[in-house]
Amino acid sequence: MSSPLKIAVFISGTGSNLGSIIRNQSKYNYQVVLVVSNKESAKGLDFAREPNIPFYTFQWNKEDKELWHLQEQISLQQCELIVLAGFMKILPEPFTKAYKNKIINIHPSLLPKYPGLHTHQRALDNGDEFHGATVHYVNEELDAGQRISQTIIETKGCNDADSLATRLLVREHSLFPYTIGLIAANRVTWQNDELYLDGEKLTEPVIFNE
Ligand code: GAR
Repeated sequence: MSSPLKIAVFISGTGSNLGSIIRNQSKYNYQVVLVVSNKESAKGLDFAREPNIPFYTFQWNKEDKELWHLQEQISLQQCELIVLAGFMKILPEPFTKAYKNKIINIHPSLLPKYPGLHTHQRALDNGDEFHGATVHYVNEELDAGQRISQTIIETKGCNDADSLATRLLVREHSLFPYTIGLIAANRVTWQNDELYLDGEKLTEPVIFNE
């Protein structure tokens, strides 16, 4: 087996996805080598503390200096992929450009439906029978990069946004490690700005309902 894919995980809050990503490292042959948070108080940093994963926090002020320090940490740890797991800041264009096709994000909706915030409430307000989460590459447009994978749940029985979010989060915890694993195994690859899965062009996201 090849050496594990080195990843940096960016968080802003609870970090339950980070916890799941760490728990599944050996199953999917990747390694979390850096955790980044824009909030020093983020509860999710505890997931990095216990296994002694280096972490880096910063005040987001859009200054070049901060970005430069962050890029320095990323290259110091030799990160090959940046994983946004509940990272609630929009990355500036110089950053997304510097890591083209190297940043993925999990978003709690079936993109292209509901980019942005309040996705669970919007699905309920719309009377949607199904809801879900999407893992996608990050580009300069909000939640609009190439989709890799999705998980789909029923909304039935969920009467508010919180219960729907809780139901979905359990699925996110499987979907995200699985998807990072596809990249770690070189099953998902970029060729001439097009995404391939197992050598076939990926036109629709992979559905993973576990
Ligand atoms: C997750 O539901 C994730 O999909 C969402 O934030 C939550 C973070 O939970 N991300 C976004 O809304 C990004 N726009 P966690 O901190 O427990 O992993």
